[in-house]
Amino acid sequence: MINKNYLKLPGSYLFANIGRKVNEYSQANPDKRIIRLGIGDVSLPLAPAIIKALHEGADEMGNAASFHGYPDYEGYDFLREAIIANDFKARGVEIGMDEVFVNDGAKCDSAALGEIFSTDIKVAVCDPVYPVYVDSNALAGRAGDYQEEKQYWSNLIYMPCVESNGFAPELPAERPDVIYLCFPNNPTGATVTKAQLQEWVDYANREGSVIIYDAAYEAYISEEDVPHSIYECEGAKECAIEMRSFSKNAGFTGMRLGFTIVPKALVRDGVSLNQLWLKHQETTFNGVSYVVQKAGAAVYTPEGKQQTSEQVAYYMNNAKYIREGLIAAGFEASGGVNAPYVWLKTPQGMNSWQFFDYLLENANVVGTPGSGFGPHGEGYFRLTGFGNYENTVEAIKRIQAL
Ligand code: MLT
Repeated sequence: MINKNYLKLPGSYLFANIGRKVNEYSQANPDKRIIRLGIGDVSLPLAPAIIKALHEGADEMGNAASFHGYPDYEGYDFLREAIIANDFKARGVEIGMDEVFVNDGAKCDSAALGEIFSTDIKVAVCDPVYPVYVDSNALAGRAGDYQEEKQYWSNLIYMPCVESNGFAPELPAERPDVIYLCFPNNPTGATVTKAQLQEWVDYANREGSVIIYDAAYEAYISEEDVPHSIYECEGAKECAIEMRSFSKNAGFTGMRLGFTIVPKALVRDGVSLNQLWLKHQETTFNGVSYVVQKAGAAVYTPEGKQQTSEQVAYYMNNAKYIREGLIAAGFEASGGVNAPYVWLKTPQGMNSWQFFDYLLENANVVGTPGSGFGPHGEGYFRLTGFGNYENTVEAIKRIQAL
């Protein structure tokens, strides 16, 4: 009766596991001040322009003339217009209103997008990878069986992202139907140039694959040659879906807002994926609240842009501090240039979870074990720049003193 694929998932969700471990430690050691640089959750409060919009939205909801009931499935026009003008048109990319689907954050859509594909397709993922892409495909029955010894799912195509390839995947030997890419990357913080991404777009168009492109961290790009959207590449509208989030660029982790672009030119088996996704959203989703969408639109106002870009700079300063502090202490560390994540090699032959325990017990600092993101994450560890600056400095001081 039940979906037995749920029973195949080993353990529980990575960040839930970590949360439990940290809570146990903190209950047993109430005197320790733990610094959390594990899950990529923001620490700064919402920017004033966003708070102002929230207040205005709340007032409108209390007035019969401006009250809003169920929102549109695809998102209010005012938000989709702002998204198109600022995130795409400003970069020379034309996106239509009916190609933007506002959602309650990228995590849900990165799992739900699988529902418009058949369950017998081949899926390719990076290794290491944001766990939702793998786990959601496992729940749908697409991943095969979990092989404990290799820590691989039998039916997924894994694309190793390792030091020797600059943590960027290589084109797979076996043809996938769907390819998940995330740049700037969670967890490694690595990214690809526009020319490298163009190779993926050309490959997908040649092979008839669909790329699900997660650009949740695009606001953190600091280098010129790094694309903010896959649609900056020629032919991407024929092969790619792009996911964006307000969580990391505007601190909406607790508000829940994101969007997915499904171009109308993306057709497989003679069917428009845009139409399938619209049907999916109308059937299973009731939209995002007016107040939250109004707050989202405030991100694109001149004040909103200024204030949120200051927040991004604050987190990037933390990431830089982490990376440089670790390197000064003799660690090998990368990332933190176009992404808020720093990816470090665990020292002294410790595996990722051993280093997690060691750091928690000896420095009272929480990070994320690389192996939680896939077997090629073993021997690595992720720290985030999303903490507050003082705690970040203190955490690095503690790590340097080990
Ligand atoms: C992470 O820490 O990898 C992210 O915060 C998780 C997420 O965005 O869902």
